[in-house]
Amino acid sequence: MTDPTPSFPTTRMRRNRRTPWLRRLVAEQVLSVDDLIWPIFVIEGKAKREPIPSMPGVVRYTLDEAAAAVEEAGGLGIPMIALFPYTDPTLKTPDAREAWNEDNLICRAVRAIKKGVPEVGVMCDVALDPFNSDGHDGIVKGCIILNDETVDALCRQSLVQAEAGCDVIAPSDMMDGRIGAIRKALDDAGMADVAIMSYAAKFASGFYGPFRDAVGSTGALKGDKKTYQMNPANGDEAIREVALDIAEGADMVMVKPGLPYLDIVWRVKDAFGMPTFAYNVSGEYAMLRGAADAGWIEYEKTMLEALTSFKRAGADGVLSYHAIDAARLLKAG
Ligand code: PBG
Repeated sequence: MTDPTPSFPTTRMRRNRRTPWLRRLVAEQVLSVDDLIWPIFVIEGKAKREPIPSMPGVVRYTLDEAAAAVEEAGGLGIPMIALFPYTDPTLKTPDAREAWNEDNLICRAVRAIKKGVPEVGVMCDVALDPFNSDGHDGIVKGCIILNDETVDALCRQSLVQAEAGCDVIAPSDMMDGRIGAIRKALDDAGMADVAIMSYAAKFASGFYGPFRDAVGSTGALKGDKKTYQMNPANGDEAIREVALDIAEGADMVMVKPGLPYLDIVWRVKDAFGMPTFAYNVSGEYAMLRGAADAGWIEYEKTMLEALTSFKRAGADGVLSYHAIDAARLLKAG
């Protein structure tokens, strides 16, 4: 397309930026509470909100507190929350069997939240790392992460979560073939309405560090996740990963991390037109929050700017630890 814009001085780009009402009028993107998914961490116990040092402002909730927090989120209009467990280290085993215990912390959290706040969507992470004594997302044999054995385990994990009332199953493990297998397992169990949001393009990232503190897998992790999570250098491969997950039945796809990967978000939305999400991960949160706490940047401004950038890149929504702060600000206007 040849640009029909006449040159300066006929065209003055600043004309459309002159006043607040004009800037509102020509805004291409508007961040709304409907775009937010709030990840929360849960822990055993009662009436506790336990701070996570590497994520200032983020806490682990006991189930009673989680239900109250989700009620607040629902009141602000946040459509969905995502649940992650801090698992008691004594429950972690090499086969990660706690993952498919129908009474594990996550399943109890889902039941408590769906009972207390049924109008808020609940999404559950599917991966073995919170339950695995090796800290890996899959079952480890020697120094290999087994693919097909892990997929069977992930199906069992998905089924207990769905039976507990989870609305959206979100596999974050990056094993091959797991979306198709989980879809079939859910359908065979009569749970065809349970949706799948696939962590379709997930990169082996240093930005997950604070999350691993939050779920208590930092010390446990042996080695790295590079044989299943993607090389941050690869964009074409991300498109192939997403294509496979869509072909296997994913209802929504996700790119993760978020801010350093906005090019991937754009390419995925452009290529497939699927409901596309991005995960503004723990390290991104820690950077922004840490700099703001040090007085180096303004928290509210930079946070809303970062969240809006996901929309501009084509995302339909964002998982973000800022979600509750952002929702409060958006509501206040
Ligand atoms: C586990 C999982 C991770 C995150 C979400 N699910 C960490 C990892 O893969 O090591 C990261 C989220 C974040 O950093 O906020 N499969």
